[in-house]
Amino acid sequence: MVSSLAALRGPAVTLVDDPFAQASRACLQYHEDALVLIEDGTIRAFGPYAELRDTVPDGITPEHFPGHLLAPGFIDTHVHYPQLQMIGAFGAQLLEWLDTYTFPAEMSFADAAHAERVAKLFLRELLRAGTTTAMVYCTVHPHSVEAFFAESERFNTRMIAGKVLMDRNAPSPLLDTAQRGHDESLALIERWHGRGRQLYCVTPRFAPTSTDAQLEAAAALLKSRDGLFLQTHLCENPGEVEWVRELFPARSSYLDVYAHAGLVRPRSMFGHAVHMHEHDFCTCHQTGAGLAHCPTSNLFLGSGLFKLFEATDPRRPVKVGLGTDVGAGTSLSQLQTLNEAYKVAALAGHKLDAVQGFYLATLGSARALGFDDRLGRLAPGHEADICVLDPHATPLMAFRAGYCASIEELLFMLMTLGDDRAVRATYVAGQRVYDRDRAGDPFHLPDAA
Ligand code: GUN
Ligand code: ZN
Repeated sequence: MVSSLAALRGPAVTLVDDPFAQASRACLQYHEDALVLIEDGTIRAFGPYAELRDTVPDGITPEHFPGHLLAPGFIDTHVHYPQLQMIGAFGAQLLEWLDTYTFPAEMSFADAAHAERVAKLFLRELLRAGTTTAMVYCTVHPHSVEAFFAESERFNTRMIAGKVLMDRNAPSPLLDTAQRGHDESLALIERWHGRGRQLYCVTPRFAPTSTDAQLEAAAALLKSRDGLFLQTHLCENPGEVEWVRELFPARSSYLDVYAHAGLVRPRSMFGHAVHMHEHDFCTCHQTGAGLAHCPTSNLFLGSGLFKLFEATDPRRPVKVGLGTDVGAGTSLSQLQTLNEAYKVAALAGHKLDAVQGFYLATLGSARALGFDDRLGRLAPGHEADICVLDPHATPLMAFRAGYCASIEELLFMLMTLGDDRAVRATYVAGQRVYDRDRAGDPFHLPDAA
């Protein structure tokens, strides 16, 4: 088989370690002029161009991005693709928001053609934002998962997704049963888990919409194949937490509902975790479960402020990733999500620096997903999912960049002022699938592998 080679050149940043555990400056690698050499979708070499230029094979001309920043593609650990059509819905907190806007939107996915249309738009919007991996909620309809994975497979993106499980407390068109949800999920697992870059995530929506029997069925599904993921919601809103207490009086906490069912483990990702007790953080630390910090959503729905620096306390660190949580979240851009994460931390008297921010959006999210051996870094052996950031994307950013005296200042400017306009290009497995400045259609399906 002939191997495919590509090379990128330009200023580059990558995280190499956890800035919540040690000094930020020890965790960021920055090269003013770097080379990324890519073979068959995997990074073969990464380092200063001057040191690596002689390793570029004859006939390969690096694509050069002077004045830009090569970075690992962003990872979004919590997002709902069917909620694009009601992002920015006015005036409700979580439970009212679900009833008024979310469930009706998800009901429209009974139409498979609608699911296909939205999946196409969603994948493109992720790539426009520089996001190359996401953990995604579909709807209760199996064909919503089919539509999502089919589109992701066309782009060869590494995506993690699953069918929502709900067997109570939702409109009847959105309900399955413990048995039916299990069987439909299993069929999707057999069809999609590990096919190309697609991975399956068992997806009970949240404790109020699943019976004990369904949560137990979810645990059984996790045992059906190696490497499956789990996603659900946890401790997002005070009214929701109270409801869970009423529904599960025998459990010691909201997290204990999931722990009792056997759902708290590595590769389990709990969205929000705003109203947590110390013993809940301890459980996450001991089990290796991850939390998805979703600041734009928590602010938009008035849910509360995630305690990032308590969660990541080095005495018992919990793995934390960054999530947009669209459509409760208000942007698919992880730069905009970091903008709000900074403010949420500031309200608790903390300073989220740029290295910590970019860690959350890349390597930290990969670690929370248990995928840091392959994702979230520019390093040999890692999958070549790369975004090219443009610090001069707008007149204001270009002006402000002129006053940035260090790479940390430039990154902080990007995470404060940046959004999808600051993403010049996105590479998936070494192929350019999005080019902001390309005339006509900026998206390009990769050549077949
Ligand atoms: N809790 C249960 N379902 C949802 C959802 O779709 N979005 C958010 N933000 N929270 C939830
Ligand atoms: Zn959510």
